[in-house]
Amino acid sequence: MMTRKNVLTAVIGAALTFGATASVYAATTFKLSHNHPRDHAVHQAMDHMAKEVRKLTDGEVRIRIYPDAQLGTQRESMELMQNGALEMVKTNAAELEAFAPAYAAFNLPYLFRDKSHYYNVKEGEVGEEILASSRDSGFIGVTYYDAGARSFYTSKPINTPEDLKGLKIRVQPSPSAIAMVNALGGSPTPLAYGELYTALQQGVVDAAENNIPSFSLSRHSEVSKYFSLDEHTMVPDVLVISTKAYDALSDEHKDALKTAADSSMELMKKLWAESEAEERAKAEKMGVEFVKPNKTAFVEAVQPMYDELEKTNPELSEIVERIKAVQ
Ligand code: GCU
Repeated sequence: MMTRKNVLTAVIGAALTFGATASVYAATTFKLSHNHPRDHAVHQAMDHMAKEVRKLTDGEVRIRIYPDAQLGTQRESMELMQNGALEMVKTNAAELEAFAPAYAAFNLPYLFRDKSHYYNVKEGEVGEEILASSRDSGFIGVTYYDAGARSFYTSKPINTPEDLKGLKIRVQPSPSAIAMVNALGGSPTPLAYGELYTALQQGVVDAAENNIPSFSLSRHSEVSKYFSLDEHTMVPDVLVISTKAYDALSDEHKDALKTAADSSMELMKKLWAESEAEERAKAEKMGVEFVKPNKTAFVEAVQPMYDELEKTNPELSEIVERIKAVQ
């Protein structure tokens, strides 16, 4: 026969077992897809976020990161997220232009005066509004990650826009990127990132444009030996989450996710600076020459994009004006 004490012990035991089981079942695991290798700074920043969120929620919210486009290209991952097959994607503002038009603002060449202007926009009111703007498309932005400045690379130095004439230049699938290369006199060829190495190697395209870490870590530096620092755009990486997954979180867990994401965004600034220096040195060792063109002719050549915007897209034009007004 069970004594009172034994019954109590059994009940407590069952409750503990049930509690443990319940908390295992209660754990929410988000799948996060992105297209960079594990040694890319953005993977490390997101790894930090995943650890933070797990800590802040006592293991109740977990993020499992799938790098290297294992779950598909950025576009495919966005579609999987919209269909509910995964919850989070690290993509960037160029790719997002097709999903939420406000991101186009980030893709305009020579919009940011310098790094602190770029940070103040991303972390300020306009940046937050853009992150929130995509709710109707089934996702929202969680945070931005520094992705430096993008420049052209090919098998010759690019010192002026004339040097781009006749070159097939890979761009991201973004209308602004296409318009920019057209304005500069090149022939834009949109391609997914993962197809670019072979495309460069086989001469399907002659040139591409990206930041230094992506250029080096994707080994495009094996094929393109001139990286011309015209620094035409500063397109941030963006971490997004499906609204279905986000709205199902408790307020406390939403706060934890925001705190963890903000902390990874801050960490990324440091990781990015280190990575830029490191990957530039690596590329130089592989024989890549870094060229520093005068930017004036590039800035002038893209001015018609702003004039056109003012005439045809007042909504975006207003966002651009607000960005310019940020200190
Ligand atoms: C950067 C960015 C990626 C993007 C890539 C590209 O590396 O971080 O998100 O896919 O540019 O040019 O496609």
